[in-house]
Amino acid sequence: MKLAGVVLAAGLGKRMYSSQPKVLHEIHGEPMLQHVLATLRKLKPERLVIIVGKHAQAIRDSVQDTGTMSFAEQREAKGTADALLKALPYLRGFQGTVLVVNGDSPLVSSGTLHKFMLLHRKKQNGISVLSFKANDYCSYGRIIRDKKGIVSSIVEDKDAMPDQKAIREVNSGVYVMEPESLHLLKEIKLNEAKGEYYLTDIVRIARDKGLKVEAFCIGSEEEFMGVNTPEELEKARQLMKERILKRWKDRGVHFVDSRAVYLSSRTRIGIGTTIYPNVHLEGSTTVGKRCTICPNVRIRNSIIEDDSVIRDSSLIEGSVVKKKASVGPFAHIRPGSEIGTGAKIGNFVEVKKSVIGACTKASHLTYLGDAKVGKDVNIGAGTITCNYDGHTKHITTIEDHVFIGSDSQLVAPVRIGKGAYVGAGSTITRDVPPQSLAISRTKQTNLEDWARKRQFKVKSEK
Ligand code: UD1
Ligand code: CA
Repeated sequence: MKLAGVVLAAGLGKRMYSSQPKVLHEIHGEPMLQHVLATLRKLKPERLVIIVGKHAQAIRDSVQDTGTMSFAEQREAKGTADALLKALPYLRGFQGTVLVVNGDSPLVSSGTLHKFMLLHRKKQNGISVLSFKANDYCSYGRIIRDKKGIVSSIVEDKDAMPDQKAIREVNSGVYVMEPESLHLLKEIKLNEAKGEYYLTDIVRIARDKGLKVEAFCIGSEEEFMGVNTPEELEKARQLMKERILKRWKDRGVHFVDSRAVYLSSRTRIGIGTTIYPNVHLEGSTTVGKRCTICPNVRIRNSIIEDDSVIRDSSLIEGSVVKKKASVGPFAHIRPGSEIGTGAKIGNFVEVKKSVIGACTKASHLTYLGDAKVGKDVNIGAGTITCNYDGHTKHITTIEDHVFIGSDSQLVAPVRIGKGAYVGAGSTITRDVPPQSLAISRTKQTNLEDWARKRQFKVKSEK
């Protein structure tokens, strides 16, 4: 089926009481709109048009992978019908079905949309509306059906008579339309009370013209909830969270207490991994099989390979932790880092834009920035790579099997050759040849009897 998708995202979102555009509010690390776009992309539309309004630039900036996408501007939020009208120039020459969704319904699934489109196609409708049964009081548009049960119009909550308000079947804001139906948009009149052109009015107009219109009640209230208020935003987060967690529980991930775990929708987790409470896996993060992620850990846009352990209170950003490695407790792995297979990054260690080789250990109180560290290296407690001279960052190279004694400073650019030793407390400013010992501390002096003489002096002065 030839398909074009249109996302209505130009509303003012006044009910959010926020300076940020409504569709950019985040749900598990992604703007609400991004969730909708990811769902639509799964249906492989030939064209994708996003209607943007007052905050057009911010919305454009937020969108990733704009390949098949166009942005149509609706300068004034004059209603959902006017918004869709703005998409028409971008659909010129397109011969196929147009799927319209609201940008503020982030929980919509591609499966339901797919099913909806198949029904539309099978029945050869001019317009199809996706509806669902709302349980409680709600503000959605009501689906009005005639005596034969055929949908005749949609009435907005504000305009509904008491008997219409009692109707539980409501409009999800998802429609599929054939090109000939889109021309009817121009016939929609202004709703005087609201000062907006309602897209929902297209149903009545199409029916009057004898077009085949149908509403398919296949949605659930949770999936199609519209986010209009801060309370609804929180609810959407909660529902999304439950959905994501369920997915990973079903795939063999162990959560000690999943109520206190936050996963982005782009997170992937391998079978047999255990996740403790207060863990945040954000952005595009992948955790392998049989890993352990201890309490209070935040991992963003990173890959943690199989059998690794991330210990308590660690932060990992934009990095790769290879198999069987161990990071933390209280470690900070900053963007561009790679922690090698079986390596150990211990407490109070910061690693920035550095490659740490296999089985290398930096177990305590260390800063490794812009460093290339080989395999089987031992970095003693309190080692610092002095990578910044006030203007430029420089590289520290530590080759395989090196031993760096505790409390050493390596002033970059500098290279420590294979198998070399650096004596504890050294400040290394020149390259160290392989297999040698570099030591730069002053020689120790022992002043014998010094303490006794001092005590005697203090006493005699009293
Ligand atoms: C709309 C429907 C309602 C349905 C509900 C489902 C209309 C008139 N009402 O109501 O029947 O039950 O969605 O969630 O369509 N937008 C624009 N430009 C505008 C106005 C809105 O692009 O001028 C966008 C918004 O950004 C939003 C979407 O359209 O993503 C829906 O607008 P909103 O004002 O939230 O409509 P609802 O009152 O929720
Ligand atoms: Ca809405």
